[in-house]
Amino acid sequence: MLEIHSQPGACGALVSGVDLAQTLEPLQVQAIRNAWLDHQVLGFPDQHLDLDALERLALALGDFGEDPFFESIPGHPHVAEVRRNADETTPLFAESWHSDWSFLPKPPSGTLLQAKVIPPVGGDTLFADQYAAWEALEPSLKKQVKNLQGIHSARRGYAPDGLYGADDVGRSMAIRYSDSAMQIQAHPIALPHPETGRIALFVNPGYTIGIEGMNDAAAWPLLRELFEHQTQPEFCYRHHWSDGMLTLWDNRCVLHAATGGYDGFERVLHRITLAAVSVESKTPVV
Ligand code: SIN
Repeated sequence: MLEIHSQPGACGALVSGVDLAQTLEPLQVQAIRNAWLDHQVLGFPDQHLDLDALERLALALGDFGEDPFFESIPGHPHVAEVRRNADETTPLFAESWHSDWSFLPKPPSGTLLQAKVIPPVGGDTLFADQYAAWEALEPSLKKQVKNLQGIHSARRGYAPDGLYGADDVGRSMAIRYSDSAMQIQAHPIALPHPETGRIALFVNPGYTIGIEGMNDAAAWPLLRELFEHQTQPEFCYRHHWSDGMLTLWDNRCVLHAATGGYDGFERVLHRITLAAVSVESKTPVV
């Protein structure tokens, strides 16, 4: 039976009582999905899943999503390696707050990350609860943005002149920049979660580059205000990794950001992005 231990912070739980390397029973899958929807971020200590088991878990929970700018691990087209070598000096990967691939027409529902090599210090992942951020937004600001669409793009990171572009020399992680990163995609700023029906604030400093129908002069003060609001400490949870931990988060209602502090140590995790799910949207209560 699943044991779920809520963590201090706005979201996040540690889960024990299940061996994720085994084929899961439907009731176990349902219990994990329910806990995921309730807590938004789940850490399962001591799982040590190999690539086949990680893929099996992803398919039990949903379907494989796409990873437009990662080269996959050979023989495993849906698994990417999040890697930083001990002597690496490139800018930290995924350090700005973001929701994975929010620039896609159908952003991924979730992400699975299996710890392979965890440094003895640093390397925590921060999460920010965007239901709480939406709920705490000033009523006047809520009213102002509730029918607006944010414009998302991968360009700041993955365009040839982006953070992980042509100048990103010496990176150990197999990131592949591309002109396709210049594409844009609009999504509601007040996003109804397709499974819970709750509203989440759906913009992020990593990928949101504007607001539909507004010029930059009008959009940026508003976006800056939303960015500052959405990652305040009261919405955050600091996720501390341990050897073999498997972590699952919900991209539709949390932002996350990698942290450093482990210079001189290697850090390696295996990642699968989970595809969007097509569940009828429930009517939002704004
Ligand atoms: C990611 O955003 O996929 C990586 C997060 C991390 O390395 O902590």
